[in-house]
Amino acid sequence: MIPQLIIFDTTLRDGEQSPGASMTRDEKVRIARMLERLHVDVIEAGFPIASPDDFEAVRAVAQTVRDTRVCGLARALEKDIDRVGEALKSAEAPRIHIFIATSPIHMQMKLRMSPDQVMQRAVQAVKRARRYTDDVEFSAEDAGRSEIDFLCRIIEAAIDAGATTINIPDTVGYNLPEQFGQLVKTLIQRIPNADKVIFSVHCHNDLGLAVANSLSAVQHGARQVECTINGLGERAGNAALEEVVMAVRTRRDLFDCDTHIEATEIVPISRLVSSITGFPVQPNKAIVGANAFAHESGIHQDGVLKSRETYEIMRAEDVGWMANRIVLGKHSGRNALRTRLKELGIEFSSGEELNAAFVRFKELADKKHEIFDEDLQALVSETESAVRESYTLIALHACSETGEVPVAAITLGIKGKESHAEMAGSGPVDATFRAIESIVCSGAHLKLYSVNAITSGTDAQGEVTVRLEKEGWIVNGQGADTDIVIASAKAYLNALDKLEAAVQREHPQRGDV
Ligand code: KIV
Ligand code: ZN
Repeated sequence: MIPQLIIFDTTLRDGEQSPGASMTRDEKVRIARMLERLHVDVIEAGFPIASPDDFEAVRAVAQTVRDTRVCGLARALEKDIDRVGEALKSAEAPRIHIFIATSPIHMQMKLRMSPDQVMQRAVQAVKRARRYTDDVEFSAEDAGRSEIDFLCRIIEAAIDAGATTINIPDTVGYNLPEQFGQLVKTLIQRIPNADKVIFSVHCHNDLGLAVANSLSAVQHGARQVECTINGLGERAGNAALEEVVMAVRTRRDLFDCDTHIEATEIVPISRLVSSITGFPVQPNKAIVGANAFAHESGIHQDGVLKSRETYEIMRAEDVGWMANRIVLGKHSGRNALRTRLKELGIEFSSGEELNAAFVRFKELADKKHEIFDEDLQALVSETESAVRESYTLIALHACSETGEVPVAAITLGIKGKESHAEMAGSGPVDATFRAIESIVCSGAHLKLYSVNAITSGTDAQGEVTVRLEKEGWIVNGQGADTDIVIASAKAYLNALDKLEAAVQREHPQRGDV
């Protein structure tokens, strides 16, 4: 049997640390369900101490997921560990992930602790976590810039204290592939009790090397890779799950292990994560980009027609690319909607939510005859956010005409009260945003505005992302509609809702420990 490479997905934790990518509890649960279908081995669901919402999200994922290990992150602090223990109470297979920085710069400048103090804290933390579960992961934050002797000592002590997985993060994406592979190899060779644990890696992409570094580590003995869908994550992101998995599978001649990933779920989950977080996938992105399997040059097209292997090293259908299937239409009933949503991993907890989704579905089917899976995903996102939104769009009239100044008249519901405003702008979207701001006076800055067609054709829904920033908080709001001005208004209001929720969250890698 081929040894297993464990896939630890941290889209819901490190991925969520991408500016603006914060997710609600329900969004996390939806992604977690898809991660389970993808057959990842571990889902890192969040950082429970960060906020009550984060705690609830981890708890909800732990309650929902049955076939995959669920993990929560903690600093090496009792209060963090106890919070994770509590959030994971109902998990079928809980893991506590503890981290503390081990590089000289982090220990001196951030923690203001001596190496011995850091070591003592790490040992105490691992022991405390073992009270809750026998699956404890220890991460030496910034291992890529740590001194090898200290790294060996602290890892040996963490294993003695009960850690079962040792994670080696290249936290700032500083290492090069051969160097990082050698680091992992040296640790495995030098640490006397290394054979008792799984070695894991967690690489950031600051130099565009996260996947290369992870793969090199696997070739040098790592048996777990931490990664995210679409490479989402802090700053330049983490290693992209889809790239790691397909590299190992496609080049089995160079790896003595493989994953359990169900690769046909890769494209659907990539789209789901992109639509929930508002981070579009670049067209030339490996595996999941729209052009990843498109051949433009005549020579390439000719070659592929004669024999696919001339220019393709993977098959598009093996990673989940298939022609958009028309799944539902105007005449489809509630049961057909429920069944298709279930196939997509979406189940509503109440009949009311299904009814609300069905009403939206019928409205959409009146405007757009063919409803694709992507339309359903967007529709569900809207239904879920409608349940908790403070700002609702009641009516919008936007007007643009050659030679005239565009204007927008909008009626909003704000916590149950109606307000109306009219504004002019440089275009109908600008006028709409000005009208909204004249009512809500949020003081937020618009950082990004983007529109993507969810499917093809002129009747496609436009999916709009609006990124707002206020006092250092960044959020992405999404809205979808066949009318892009309406989609824009929905996205702006969704961002305002998220901005309200965002404040008061703690960041795992900032702060005092
Ligand atoms: O990048 C990092 O070091 C992390 C740790 C918490 C594992 O995200
Ligand atoms: Zn990280």
